[in-house]
Amino acid sequence: KEHPDCDFTFLVGSDQVEQFHKWKEADALARLVKFAAVARDGRSPRTKYPIHYIHMDPVPVSSTEIRRGNRLNYVPQALLDYFYANRLYCKEFVQSRVPQHRYMHSLSVARLTEQFATAAGLDANQAWLTGLFHDVCKAMPADRMRPWLEAVCPQELTMHPAAWHSYVGAQVTDRVFGIHDPRISNAIFHHVKGTSDDPLAMCVFCADKLDPLRGYDSYDLIDLCCRDLKAGFEKCRETNREYVDSHRKDAVWTN
Ligand SMILES: [Fe+2]
Ligand SMILES: [Fe+2]
Repeated sequence: KEHPDCDFTFLVGSDQVEQFHKWKEADALARLVKFAAVARDGRSPRTKYPIHYIHMDPVPVSSTEIRRGNRLNYVPQALLDYFYANRLYCKEFVQSRVPQHRYMHSLSVARLTEQFATAAGLDANQAWLTGLFHDVCKAMPADRMRPWLEAVCPQELTMHPAAWHSYVGAQVTDRVFGIHDPRISNAIFHHVKGTSDDPLAMCVFCADKLDPLRGYDSYDLIDLCCRDLKAGFEKCRETNREYVDSHRKDAVWTN
């Protein structure tokens, strides 16, 4: 009724063609609605209903794999953009790549990054994505990260391997997951050391350090970040510097 000029077709899988007669009031539906089915693997089951077949080249990837964030090169960019704008499957993409405790941390950082960004008048969804993906490469073995670093930022190879996941994560978020947002890449790149003063980068740096799941009382600093992001950022950097200095000489933030 809302779109009287549109000619709608209802798409179903070819498996549904075979059992279309089991649909509730199938005869009436077939009269009221135009149906079309995608023929899978060249199969187009016969039916008495007027279901039109759409033939397409087989795609060697399942929707389950796509939902886990694998082989996203088969997904058109416009669709990926839609996923990210609407937070569809994003959590699953991260969950499939990190252990459970890291996934819980990622969700928590996503929420806190969004909270800081909203308080600072920044884009909430951009912040949520940044927080969610900031540690997406945390569980990647060093020997798999090394080629990424060599190709993209060889100067960072001198850094402690515990910090590599930030540099590689920035690349993987862009190139593998198709989140083509230079501010998100920049924020992830700098999240370990807090070396960017872009407001989004400040948000995720602070959220990462102040994640309530870390188990210490970070309430005051969280409150400060909401009221004054820059002041909270400086305080977080200072606190971390003290922490690093009080530990091993070559210690780095590995969050
Ligand atoms: Fe991290
Ligand atoms: Fe983290």
